[in-house]
Amino acid sequence: MNHIIIEGGHRLSGTVHISGAKNAVLPLIAAALLPDGVSEIEETPWLTDVCYMCDVLNYLGAQTHYENGTLQINSTGLTDCTAPFEEVQKMRASFLVMGPLLARLGAARIPLPGGCAIGARPIDLHLKGFEAMGARVTIGQRYIEAQVNHLHGARIYLDFPSVGATENIMMAASLAEGTTIIENAAKEPEIVDLANFLGAMGARIKGAGTDVVRIVGVGSLHPARHTTIPDRIEAGSFMLMAAITGSELFLENVITSHLQPMIAKMNDAGVRIIDEIDGLRVLPSGPIMPVEIKTLPYPGFPTDMQAQFMAYLALAAGSSTIRETVFENRFMHVAELAKMGADITVKGHTALIKGVPMLKGAYVEATDLRAGAAMIVAALAAEGETVIGQVDHIYRGYENIVGKLIDVGAKIREE
Ligand code: UD1
Repeated sequence: MNHIIIEGGHRLSGTVHISGAKNAVLPLIAAALLPDGVSEIEETPWLTDVCYMCDVLNYLGAQTHYENGTLQINSTGLTDCTAPFEEVQKMRASFLVMGPLLARLGAARIPLPGGCAIGARPIDLHLKGFEAMGARVTIGQRYIEAQVNHLHGARIYLDFPSVGATENIMMAASLAEGTTIIENAAKEPEIVDLANFLGAMGARIKGAGTDVVRIVGVGSLHPARHTTIPDRIEAGSFMLMAAITGSELFLENVITSHLQPMIAKMNDAGVRIIDEIDGLRVLPSGPIMPVEIKTLPYPGFPTDMQAQFMAYLALAAGSSTIRETVFENRFMHVAELAKMGADITVKGHTALIKGVPMLKGAYVEATDLRAGAAMIVAALAAEGETVIGQVDHIYRGYENIVGKLIDVGAKIREE
């Protein structure tokens, strides 16, 4: 399916079940390489990124099996320390196998992750961590290679609280000799989820979710069973889809505290949300109020919700600003929203969004995963039909999004 086609202007109603979090499950899958044996990850969303990650593990000698939302990973056959070129090019997060490979095999050879549409996204902080733990790292034309006799604990200060670097170092440190302390660590809920999985395997980790994570290395880990946390970005995206169409929608399987940074801004913009016992209810809201947003590491406003929020603010009663501070080039959706009639100008890292009374259906492209979700938000409210191209990006991170929207009354189809 190459296109998603949406007829805008229809209300949504009903319940959406939020899937397990893509950004949590990818490091969980990598972590399953650490023990010898079969681990199980429940609430694994069936996404193309998950398939890519499974391909990487299978290539390395592990075996993966997916059934009814549970992913089984048997890492007994892990023998190869070279990750496959094509998969790593397709998905940057596959770099997360580097920490487990170094810890298990003492060597890792990973293709250089390709450039990325939303910025350069270097991996220097991951490498700085591995070097501090005793690894010798060489960067070649196509591969990064690291070798170590035995990883040892270290005190590692991250210049930026990188999510991936914190995860990679936590995984490597779990099997290192001695204690590792990560300072200025990322505090995202996905870090805590990984720490819980590692803890269930026998790792000794304290402080995950704060900016100092302390890991006492152990001699070996054992396989474990774990349930992935719900996807806060999927939930936030559906909340905006409800709000922009003036709809009432109930979201089940959410952790409200993970959504707080988004809920605070949605409330400022006039979205009415009720925190109920088993989920969140978005109520039909009045006019969209302009707001100022700055993306930040957790618990700040997430960069992964920036594009969707911009689509929402395109219809605000006044001017809003969004400042992107996490990635250097994450405004590709601006040109696409403009095709639908949005009035947005970008200066440096800041977008000025002048609200317009309505958006019109157009041919637009999902320039990256979250930009694709932004097109869906805009299209649901636009007058007429919107055709979204390059939808492969959307399927990387939103499980069954078309089916979920059909179930709540959206006029949406794939072609
Ligand atoms: C993760 C998420 C992604 C999200 C991002 C920020 C996954 C699979 N992906 O990506 O959806 O948008 O967090 O919340 O979880 N940086 C460096 N050097 C490094 C590593 C990162 O300079 O070694 C920079 C990056 O270029 C970027 C910033 O730090 O500007 C944030 O990157 P990071 O937190 O590492 O994001 P990812 O883990 O790649």
